[in-house]
Amino acid sequence: MMMANPVAIDAIDLVKDYGSGENVVHALRGVNVSFEQGRFTAIMGPSGSGKSTLMHTLAGLDSATSGRIIFGGADITTLNDNQLTMLRRHEIGFIFQSFNLLPMFTAEQNIIMPLTLAGSKPDRRWFDLLVDTLGLRQRLGHRPNELSGGQQQRVAIARALISKPAVVFADEPTGNLDSVSSAEVLSFLRKSVQELGQTIIMVTHDAVAASYADRAIVFADGRIVADEDHPGAQTMSSLLMDERERATHQVPAPTMEQLMAEKDAPCGQ
Ligand SMILES: Nc1ncnc2c1ncn2[C@@H]1O[C@H](COP(=O)(O)OP(=O)(O)O)[C@@H](O)[C@H]1O
Ligand SMILES: [Mg+2]
Repeated sequence: MMMANPVAIDAIDLVKDYGSGENVVHALRGVNVSFEQGRFTAIMGPSGSGKSTLMHTLAGLDSATSGRIIFGGADITTLNDNQLTMLRRHEIGFIFQSFNLLPMFTAEQNIIMPLTLAGSKPDRRWFDLLVDTLGLRQRLGHRPNELSGGQQQRVAIARALISKPAVVFADEPTGNLDSVSSAEVLSFLRKSVQELGQTIIMVTHDAVAASYADRAIVFADGRIVADEDHPGAQTMSSLLMDERERATHQVPAPTMEQLMAEKDAPCGQ
């Protein structure tokens, strides 16, 4: 992989177990990965392979079992709760599949909510740029239930970007959208990388969605199994199908030695 830009976030031997003893689930089995600034990375892989766990631990929403996460030069696995809250508030934007907007508030209030919580005022020019680029100008006074799915997700994107975070995480941001709204959302994410230098890490099931990214990582059973630059939809589809094929035939193929030994063994006994 080409490493042109400075690193935004680095995971080193990242392990996440849920539960313990006999019920332990190994969600991340020693993940090593770097995400560069100003790049758009897609994370793909079967359901349950650890994609959301990776996003949540990298974003400081969940703690790691072991390993390190280097963000802005510091290991965030050593931060206390207050420091983590500050990091999430100022450096990280998170976009959820289910939008997670507050129903009692207007689109505008939802967008500036992270700043309201931090007791700061929005940079009006940045707010205007986000609102106009996302086509939300006419919708600012509407509550979430008066907006389409695509509009709600665009509000959630503006909210994730309003504090100019160093990294934006998006966990299946188009999972609840029709294809037109999906394309709108993906085009905006692409544009924010290209024109605003945003760093984005996005989980998606959709090979077409992944093709908007600069890079795609395939996850399986808590590990990275593929890492592609300039992922085409076709390439990603076949990679995912190969991976599924491999996973459904867990018995390893026999080695040449085993085949030879079988041939030599006496038969018909
Ligand atoms: N809070 C949790 N408690 C216990 N197990 C969990 C929890 N969250 C996720 N898991 C398990 O960890 C594994 C990875 O889950 P997840 O990261 O959500 O996968 P993905 O996002 O790829 O579908 C799965 O086996 C899942 O059941
Ligand atoms: Mg998930």
